[in-house]
Amino acid sequence: MLELRHIKKSYDHVTILEDINLKIQDGEIVSILGPSGCGKTTLLNLVLGLTPADQGRILFDGKDITNVPMEERGFNIVFQDYALFPNLNVYKNITYGLRNKPDISSKEEVDEFIELLGLKEHLNKKIDQLSGGQKQRVALARTMVMKPKILLLDEPLSALDGVIKESIKEKIKEIARDFHLTTIIVTHDPEEALTLSDKVLIVNQGHISQYGAPEEIITAPSNNFVKEFILNQLEIKRNNIFALFHQNLTNSVQAV
Ligand SMILES: Nc1ncnc2c1ncn2[C@@H]1O[C@H](COP(=O)(O)OP(=O)(O)OP(=O)(O)O)[C@@H](O)[C@H]1O
Ligand SMILES: [Mg+2]
Repeated sequence: MLELRHIKKSYDHVTILEDINLKIQDGEIVSILGPSGCGKTTLLNLVLGLTPADQGRILFDGKDITNVPMEERGFNIVFQDYALFPNLNVYKNITYGLRNKPDISSKEEVDEFIELLGLKEHLNKKIDQLSGGQKQRVALARTMVMKPKILLLDEPLSALDGVIKESIKEKIKEIARDFHLTTIIVTHDPEEALTLSDKVLIVNQGHISQYGAPEEIITAPSNNFVKEFILNQLEIKRNNIFALFHQNLTNSVQAV
């Protein structure tokens, strides 16, 4: 279990996160949802160990890891901008982290991740020859082969749309389930959060607005922010789809 206790973080005397208390069970998929600038990436960086907290403690499997350096925590992240190496091909990007730690994944296991993420036919390509979705899958594979104890994903689906997005969502679920991997995903899309995760963490202005299962968030939003931010956005999306459908229907009727 990962536990955050009374975590506080500020930058330049501005409080970004305040009194964050959170428990994430092993194997759970948790989405972090909230407006731009509310502190989602900061929260991931605190868990990863990239950023120190000002106050509070972080525990993993009962052990206090607050002061344990990033390399020793054994967590891994897919960054918001993927941070792939443009001068290396896909295969070299995927196996980059293994060059000094070849024991973590065997050649067969690397191949399995490549297969799982549908990257087999792209292995010799350079990064700039890939689509956005393919880049995201390379970033995911590169992180997975390191077998992290916790997988952190910062907006892994933001550049994707439609079918690809759904298929990667399924892949993430599959990987989390098969490897019993605790996964924390940052997103700003309520629909994505509600369909992908076991629990949703809603952050607003540096505070936890609500933390619960998707059905709990939908049926019992704990405050106005949750109601407005999440449910209205879903409603707007639904209305847009309906309006689009209606428009297309009208157009086709007129065309006839
Ligand atoms: N290294 C830093 N130094 C100073 N301020 C920072 C730093 N990193 C983040 N911030 C500030 O902290 C706040 C939270 O940033 P963060 O990146 O966590 O937001 P976010 O929720 O991930 O936003 P987005 O959805 O746009 O990615 C922002 O106001 C940002 O400007
Ligand atoms: Mg961010």
